[in-house]
Amino acid sequence: MAHSDRCLLDHLIAAASAGGTPAARGAVSYQRALVTGASSGIGRAFTQVLPASTDLLLVGRNAATLDEARRELDRPGRRVETIVADLADEAAVADLIARADGFGIDLLINNAGTGRLGAVIDNSARAERETAAVNVLAVVQLSRGLLPGMIDRARRERRRAGLIIVASTAAFAPVPYFTTYAASKAFDLSFAEGLAEELRTQPVDVLALCPGATRSQFGSRAGLSASNLPGAMDPQTVARQALAALGRQRVKVTGIDQAYLAPALLPRCLLTRVLGVAMREVVARMAASPTPARPARRSSPGRP
Ligand SMILES: NC(=O)c1ccc[n+]([C@@H]2O[C@H](COP(=O)([O-])OP(=O)(O)OC[C@H]3O[C@@H](n4cnc5c(N)ncnc54)[C@H](OP(=O)(O)O)[C@@H]3O)[C@@H](O)[C@H]2O)c1
Repeated sequence: MAHSDRCLLDHLIAAASAGGTPAARGAVSYQRALVTGASSGIGRAFTQVLPASTDLLLVGRNAATLDEARRELDRPGRRVETIVADLADEAAVADLIARADGFGIDLLINNAGTGRLGAVIDNSARAERETAAVNVLAVVQLSRGLLPGMIDRARRERRRAGLIIVASTAAFAPVPYFTTYAASKAFDLSFAEGLAEELRTQPVDVLALCPGATRSQFGSRAGLSASNLPGAMDPQTVARQALAALGRQRVKVTGIDQAYLAPALLPRCLLTRVLGVAMREVVARMAASPTPARPARRSSPGRP
């Protein structure tokens, strides 16, 4: 479905349930939040813009940066805990669910994400799998594992819970040479929208956040140089806009004028071809430049 249709649908849904929408009830303040990917970028920004009254469970792999974030966010009377976990590991996600349930979270921010620029058959199998595991499987596992407890607690305490799933503007169309990443983000967007509808009568709000280019470590980790992200947005602004949108709409696009999503109205095969031409050029330029990270070149068919 084109983005303009999504907006129309949002308006129709809001109109159909006027008076009972969370927007009519005012902003929700959350008591305990779990933020994945809290060690840098947009996840770290979420932890910084949430009110100081919100207890935090910070998740990432980098223990040192998580600890630095914990110290920065610590306040008298506030609980801030860190969990070092690789979200590509199913058992680690299961442990995280048990810990977060015990913490009693009422806000889940599925933010951690990864991706690798380059052709699928040139990138390592490990990197492609990690993209799918972190961006898709962990999001499903965490949402399925934590939502029932969040909804129960919200109902008992007569509050609302919240779920933010960080997708991307790359969710709106196939992006050749960023194929697995864009497909994983299309999943995230669709998953969040489907969940929002399934849970429409429950005391929980669901938002798909679709950031455009945002300042973070994402580009350099993906194999892009910073110059590939012109006009990148401040991550705290993205986080603030997402929290303001939660409970008011189901899809929030940040960082680009929605008019730029008009190409999503093109037939998919034409759109994919156009994006393929543009991305092939990006990959060729990256391969020709000496720094920073280049997309991996294919060496042998059996390479892991
Ligand atoms: N920046 C953009 O332009 C942009 C645009 C659209 C969407 N997004 C999305 O925004 C989200 C946040 O990305 P970002 O831009 O803030 O990038 P970032 O600075 O690279 O942060 C990514 C975060 O995800 C965590 N992470 C990655 N792999 C993980 C794993 N296997 N297990 C646990 N944690 C893992 C990282 O933690 P550790 O470093 O501790 O491992 C880090 O905290 C992602 O879902 C990304 O797809 C970003």
